[in-house]
Amino acid sequence: MRILDALERWRDNSENEFGKLPMPPILYSSEEIHNIELEKIFSKEWVCIGHISELKDAGDYLTFNLATHPVIALRDNNNEIRVYSNVCAHRSSRLLDGSGKCSVIICPYHAWAYELNGKLRGAPRMDKDKVKQVHLNQLKFEIWQGLIFVNLDHNAAPLSPRLSSLDEHINRFDFANMDVVHSYEGELACNWKVLVENFCESYHLFKVHKTTLEPSTPTSSVEVMPGGVGYNHHTLDKKMDDKKVSATKENKEHLCCIYPSMTFALSQSRVLWLSIIPTSYNRLRFRAWVGKDLNVHTDKKMAEGELDQLLAFMAEDKVINTGVQKGLEAGVGNRGPLNEMEKTNWDFGHYYAKMMLS
Ligand code: FES
Ligand SMILES: [Fe+2]
Repeated sequence: MRILDALERWRDNSENEFGKLPMPPILYSSEEIHNIELEKIFSKEWVCIGHISELKDAGDYLTFNLATHPVIALRDNNNEIRVYSNVCAHRSSRLLDGSGKCSVIICPYHAWAYELNGKLRGAPRMDKDKVKQVHLNQLKFEIWQGLIFVNLDHNAAPLSPRLSSLDEHINRFDFANMDVVHSYEGELACNWKVLVENFCESYHLFKVHKTTLEPSTPTSSVEVMPGGVGYNHHTLDKKMDDKKVSATKENKEHLCCIYPSMTFALSQSRVLWLSIIPTSYNRLRFRAWVGKDLNVHTDKKMAEGELDQLLAFMAEDKVINTGVQKGLEAGVGNRGPLNEMEKTNWDFGHYYAKMMLS
């Protein structure tokens, strides 16, 4: 694949005497690369689709569009989480939209009705024997820190082992017992890697987020952590107003990217995270969540404040990221070197090269 030669060259020469280098612009501006990413990354890697607190009771469901594959996650009547293709087993209609609660899944096309365990319960005007073997397509999933990850590859290696060194740093925050208090979806006119890299580094806070993030998490406090094969990780000192919260946990914000495209910012009893999906080489869709430990954060106003903060800094990043995309499409090749605070982006690049060149 000639188009990947640029990535191969970068992988083999990603450092010079001035430092580590960012990946070449062609990787962010080509439909052909986008198609290879769908095959080599999004068809075989773990993608976050939600959190267990969104599926508390039997019948609770959520939907997610994983690249070209629509997905349903739900809690069945045995209290088990299940993940299915959001595709009817009859003639492939989409089954559910958004999130909510149901006791049976009824297809909007010919009203075939599925149990929560995926089995077809009934099909109007059809002989029972003809359809008794029919069931929804089950997908491989794994829960890590309360987050639900899906993998379209049934033979994929498990996710948790490659994140075990991160567990040591974040277990104390009890991510699994937080509650999602807000979630929303958005689109952005840039390559998915632009947004991932933007979230992976906090070198830009002092400039882009001067009044929104820099006062509470100053750029000068960035510490790049070792990371691992499945993730990168850096921390910032976090100044807290809330005495009750700051007394309970360490005063650090942990920013991580779980490869390929889930990023989170976790601090005292609250977490903001994104799951990012490419829709073309210059467009992405994301879902963002705000999670809280509601035993500590009993004040609803504060939860709303977190959402406002998320919206404010996402708006600031949007301006930058769409501008970066235009710059990348200009194909100007002399980029770099990276700041040491951006080592996380370089680590992401090497993960990306490993997947794309495999
Ligand atoms: S496509 Fe779903 S019932 Fe026909
Ligand atoms: Fe930012």
